[in-house]
Amino acid sequence: MPAYHRLGEVPPKRHTQFRKADGSLYSEEVFGTEGFSGNYSILYYHYPPTRITKFAPLSLPSATQARPNVPEIWHEGVQRHHHLKSAALGGKGDAVQGRQIVMYNQDVAIGVAKPTETMDYYYRSGDADLVYFVQAGEGVCESVFGALPFHSGDYIVIPRGTTFRFDLPSLGRTTVTFLTIEAHGTIEPPHRYYNHQGQLLEHAPYCERDIRRPEELITHTEAGEFEVRVKVGDTITCYTYDHHPLNVVGWDGCAYPWIFNIHDFEPITGRVHQPPPVHQTFQGPNFVVCSFVPRKLDYHPLSVPVPYNHSNIDSDELLYYVNGNFGSRRGIEQESLTLHPRGIPHGPQPGVVEQSLGAERTEEMAVMIDTFKPLLLTSVAQAIDDPSYPYSWSGQV
Ligand SMILES: [Fe+2]
Repeated sequence: MPAYHRLGEVPPKRHTQFRKADGSLYSEEVFGTEGFSGNYSILYYHYPPTRITKFAPLSLPSATQARPNVPEIWHEGVQRHHHLKSAALGGKGDAVQGRQIVMYNQDVAIGVAKPTETMDYYYRSGDADLVYFVQAGEGVCESVFGALPFHSGDYIVIPRGTTFRFDLPSLGRTTVTFLTIEAHGTIEPPHRYYNHQGQLLEHAPYCERDIRRPEELITHTEAGEFEVRVKVGDTITCYTYDHHPLNVVGWDGCAYPWIFNIHDFEPITGRVHQPPPVHQTFQGPNFVVCSFVPRKLDYHPLSVPVPYNHSNIDSDELLYYVNGNFGSRRGIEQESLTLHPRGIPHGPQPGVVEQSLGAERTEEMAVMIDTFKPLLLTSVAQAIDDPSYPYSWSGQV
């Protein structure tokens, strides 16, 4: 988000002397994106963020692949529609390392995380913005920018370069489930909703007031041995520090983690069917994220409330079903993922159009990710695939 935010203590002028009580200098860091031309923040650390004691490649004891951090591709050999039942996925690992990637391309990797363990390390995605959509559960995203509590329905947006961990105090008592997006570029609100000075316009489906930002900065000055895992490409490097990595005493700027809750998305409706761009919530590098939320349906007396058959000629269309009854689909469960790729039209299933006539509301809630380059499915997707789905339009299933 472009909005300026500030937490803790910062000096009146940037890059000027800022001293601790003992007279020594705090360590200043510019956290800058897009080669110092994009959004940035300036952080003040108790310890220099450059001071490491050790680094080593991450070695996973269970890794058998030559490239363990690259998802295994499912080479199916056909182009078809898919229905993946991610509710069937078991819990695995922690919220970051336990992500189960279902599909990806050179721009974005999409997965599901159902952590069974807490993170005993900090993590920094060196080249990819992250979005964690909270399907179930609650916790706190603890980062150098402060604490950001989250709960179900939240999109947690974490800019690349952020050192963070997820604290999940309810783990074991309640299930925590995330839909995860890892993107090689900036994830942000759609540019068409900004005015030329960077404020969200009045017709945007959400505004600055709907954004939650880190509100509490806890400065950890304790010494010890702390691990930060840094991922760039498919390489994960484990850095060891002799001090707590979250030792920031103050920061300000326009680059930081933030949250938007899907329930705060104000739907745009009309007399006749509104196309998917009205649901757009974020833009990323060669993809968009949309939110389908409960809303009034089209109010023309002869309107058809469910979508056209459609050919998404230049995009692959992934839907994640959050809850409610999704109007145009049958046989879909909560946490289902459908992938309707380019090359094959799709649309309402048999009988759905007639059934929808006269409906005034929908209670559906779903997250859609449309990518402009083809997605590759993984072995995780293969394990939860419903092979009969392509025939669901034939009336035989
Ligand atoms: Fe579609």
